Amino acid sequence: MRLNSKLAAAMAVLAALGGVAAYAQEKYTLISPGGIAFSDFKGYEDWAMVSSARTDEVLKVIVGNPAMIKAFKAGVPGDGRAFPEGSRIVKLQWKPKKSAEAQFPVDVPDVFTQAFVMEKDSKRFPKSGGWGYAVFNYDAATNKFTADASSPADCGFACHTVVKAKDYIFHPYEKR
Ligand code: HEM
Repeated sequence: MRLNSKLAAAMAVLAALGGVAAYAQEKYTLISPGGIAFSDFKGYEDWAMVSSARTDEVLKVIVGNPAMIKAFKAGVPGDGRAFPEGSRIVKLQWKPKKSAEAQFPVDVPDVFTQAFVMEKDSKRFPKSGGWGYAVFNYDAATNKFTADASSPADCGFACHTVVKAKDYIFHPYEKR
């Protein structure tokens, strides 16, 4: 292969990598209207599962950071203790579709749409049970995340108060 085309090929690879890197960095530069940085949840893609849930329109998987998972396994919140500072939990949401390959009717994730996030920092969020809330929307067409404009840092507090006794967390760490 002639030098120029080798160079062109290498440039194309670098540009693609640059694109991926730029996209990844861009996502983690987002900050919610309530001042919550998406980068506080860096690595959520590989966090352990807490539970799953669904409505007719949405498939959900809930994941927690190592501090949150360790606390769940130690009996929190069932033993009356609160989750430690630095605990983080993310509810990932997809639009479902029927699997085209399966031999039986089954719903599988189709399009990823949103990440609902909560982080425990009682100093920063004293008015919302020590938890800060934010929503990051994902648009598959543009492959871009945006911080949801209507998610102040207490956006979930009013509803999550019904599970105040479980430190504002609905889902238990499901048996597996
Ligand atoms: C907009 C800000 C909000 C954020 C960032 C948020 C975040 C979350 C997160 C991370 C979970 C999974 C952890 C858990 O088990 O608690 C969750 C679950 C839940 N939230 Fe919220 N929430 C918000 C608003 C609300 C509101 C307004 C309601 C009531 C209408 C609500 C009701 C629920 C319920 C019932 C669950 C458990 C069922 C499910 O998984 O969907 N949340 N939320």
